[in-house]
Amino acid sequence: MTPSIRAAKVEDIPMIGQLLHEYASDGRLLGRSESEIKSRLEDFVVSEINGRICGCGSLEIFTTELGEVRSLAVDPENHDKGIGRLMVNQIESMALSRGLSRIIALTYVPGFFSKLGYRIVSMESLPEKVFGVCVSCPKFDRCDEIAMQKELALL
Ligand SMILES: CC(C)(COP(=O)(O)OP(=O)(O)OC[C@H]1O[C@@H](n2cnc3c(N)ncnc32)[C@H](O)[C@@H]1OP(=O)(O)O)[C@@H](O)C(=O)NCCC(=O)NCCS
Repeated sequence: MTPSIRAAKVEDIPMIGQLLHEYASDGRLLGRSESEIKSRLEDFVVSEINGRICGCGSLEIFTTELGEVRSLAVDPENHDKGIGRLMVNQIESMALSRGLSRIIALTYVPGFFSKLGYRIVSMESLPEKVFGVCVSCPKFDRCDEIAMQKELALL
């Protein structure tokens, strides 16, 4: 069955929270509370197979040009079916439609993002992220994520 990607709905919030929680528990992602997801719901996409949510992701906007792929997760039984790629494509389209020209990801899976056209950049090249958001992260002084960036071509 082909996965579909759509904007997240209120009824998806518990499943999005659960997916993120599963990966947050082993440190692969930052967890997000249901109230935080609700307040940013218009920035979330979900993927569905047979009416069941199997992935989620969101767009975070930092500046008039810079956004981030955040909270990207595909449930383990549906890895390697192209769902992550489809969601990142959708998030990039959202970023373009909102006027952004660059998008980043902080990640432990650089191989995945490099397949999607992202290249590794230094954390120091991303002051909007590091000083705006990372400073309040519990892992700020021992961050081991890899920063990756993609220039968004105009459609
Ligand atoms: C990373 C993740 C979102 C990828 O989703 P996915 O649906 O399995 O990925 P896709 O099937 O769309 O893969 C797209 C391409 O990337 C490759 N790829 C997928 N995961 C990869 C990995 N961990 N390392 C290297 N390449 C990877 C695939 O082989 C595929 O390559 P191809 O185009 O040559 O066939 C998923 O593994 C996941 O949810 N991981 C746990 C949470 C996480 O780490 N999220 C990222 C936070 S930034």
